[in-house]
Amino acid sequence: MSTTLQSQQRAAVLKGLGTFLPERVVTNEELSQRLETSDEWIRSRTGIGQRHWASPGTATSDLAVEAGARALKAAGCQSVDAVVLATTTPDHPCPATAPAVAARLGLGTVPAFDVGAVCAGFVYAAATASSLIVAGVAERVLVIGAETYSTILNPEDRTTSVIFGDGAGAMVLQAGTAREAGALLGFDLGSDGSLPGLISIPAGGSRQKSDPTPPDPSDFYFTMQGKQVFAHAVNKMGDSCAALLERIGWSAQSVDRLVGHQANVRILHALADLLGVERARAFVNLDRVGNTSAASIPLALADAVEDGEIRAGDRVVMSAFGGGLAWGSTALLWPEINVITSH
Ligand code: COA
Repeated sequence: MSTTLQSQQRAAVLKGLGTFLPERVVTNEELSQRLETSDEWIRSRTGIGQRHWASPGTATSDLAVEAGARALKAAGCQSVDAVVLATTTPDHPCPATAPAVAARLGLGTVPAFDVGAVCAGFVYAAATASSLIVAGVAERVLVIGAETYSTILNPEDRTTSVIFGDGAGAMVLQAGTAREAGALLGFDLGSDGSLPGLISIPAGGSRQKSDPTPPDPSDFYFTMQGKQVFAHAVNKMGDSCAALLERIGWSAQSVDRLVGHQANVRILHALADLLGVERARAFVNLDRVGNTSAASIPLALADAVEDGEIRAGDRVVMSAFGGGLAWGSTALLWPEINVITSH
């Protein structure tokens, strides 16, 4: 599925960005003490140096509220018409987490709902919010990506425990026109449901509960077939970015910053190579935060701005890929906005 906007057309425009990371930093050395792994393996195979994990008692909504409050402050607004929350780790299987987040942010009785597209969730949530705005249903929407993967990781699985981190990021999108800086210029979204087992939590849903066979306790944890996921991530994000760039009329060489889902630095470099974007333009912050799934894109955007790697006027392309499989890309000219982080 794809959309692009003409310059006069109503569009969703980025007005503020906020992020939050839980205080606790988990280093590669700490994980190496209880798992058969090493700082050298994790750094050389993934690029990850550390990640943040929430402390006991902290749920996804707690991180989402912190990031959401910072995004609202950054945008200088106290109200929105809707809240769209992307997460793989909702507070409860039922109800959705977004209504509780909206209530705790003092946003009243606005529509608030969750979007589930695993690591592609933030782009899907932004596309949903953008569609509400372009259709005239909403003037201003708070989009949040928040995760507590530490709650779903198998502590004995070195192939996933070293990769994922917790965190949250949020943006305020507001109605404007496609010619303004900050306008989301189009989306390319896709999924392939023929490969659901590459990334999954096998138990805990209706499929397992409808099965009389008792599940293995490890089936309640997150699982990933890393090698196969790697290849799909590069190819699907590559095709998605190329399709988006063609439709919005940007050459790969004109992209100032490629903000890909922070899963593995080798994926980010392979994606840049495939597109013909210089590797130096592929932003990397997974060394600091690991793979934060639906929070990955806004956390990367905020760090890129704070590092001076994204400046007003830059052509920025975002692309994400995750379980489902699901993927998506969007692009904007970076606006003059406030970014408020917790770190
Ligand atoms: N420490 C040490 N060794 C490890 C390890 C760890 N944490 N995790 C796996 N290994 C071992 C494996 O057991 C394997 O050993 P073997 O050769 O004896 O069988 C070896 O390292 C290579 O494993 P492999 O899975 O082939 O490694 P890889 O180079 O593919 O890297 C990932 C693994 C997970 C880092 C990589 O596949 C990846 O990043 N995948 C994509 C993740 C992603 O994109 N997620 C996005 C969607 S959420």
